[in-house]
Amino acid sequence: MALRIRLLGDPILRQKAKKIEIIDESLREIAKEMVGIMYSGDGVGLAAPQVGLSIRLIVVDIGDGWDAYINPEIIEKSDEIIVGEEGCLSIPEVFEEVPRPRWIKIKYQDFNGNYHEELKEDYAARVFAHEIDHLEGKLFIDYLSLAKRRLLMPKLNEIRRRSKVVSK
Ligand code: NI
Repeated sequence: MALRIRLLGDPILRQKAKKIEIIDESLREIAKEMVGIMYSGDGVGLAAPQVGLSIRLIVVDIGDGWDAYINPEIIEKSDEIIVGEEGCLSIPEVFEEVPRPRWIKIKYQDFNGNYHEELKEDYAARVFAHEIDHLEGKLFIDYLSLAKRRLLMPKLNEIRRRSKVVSK
């Protein structure tokens, strides 16, 4: 399968992704291909909608090797909010400060279909919250103030133009 990064402006990034019901070898192949794309873009996380697949799958590598998370969800989060810089492979060259819970508890399935619950803190919490947002059609720029978004508008519109050219 030849997957490629979808840029801001591609409608798939705004769709709610479908729950994965069948966990098989082809899903593992998709995850591996996503990891390759993530690494080549110097990313620390990638969600399936970003490569044109509207399914609830993310891959993450925040420095300790990659892992895939199937049907991930946030089941608990801290009231404490921390602001930190984020970027996104679907919104290249845009880096902005985004508020996120300091910790989140996530639930997901592995390739055997087994369920896991894990606590993610600080940077890890940010990465997972960002990727899980993608499955809801939410992007980090949605958290920015109107003023900030207005400032970014030319850059964002340029990405939207590129997105249209690529998809032809
Ligand atoms: Ni992203």
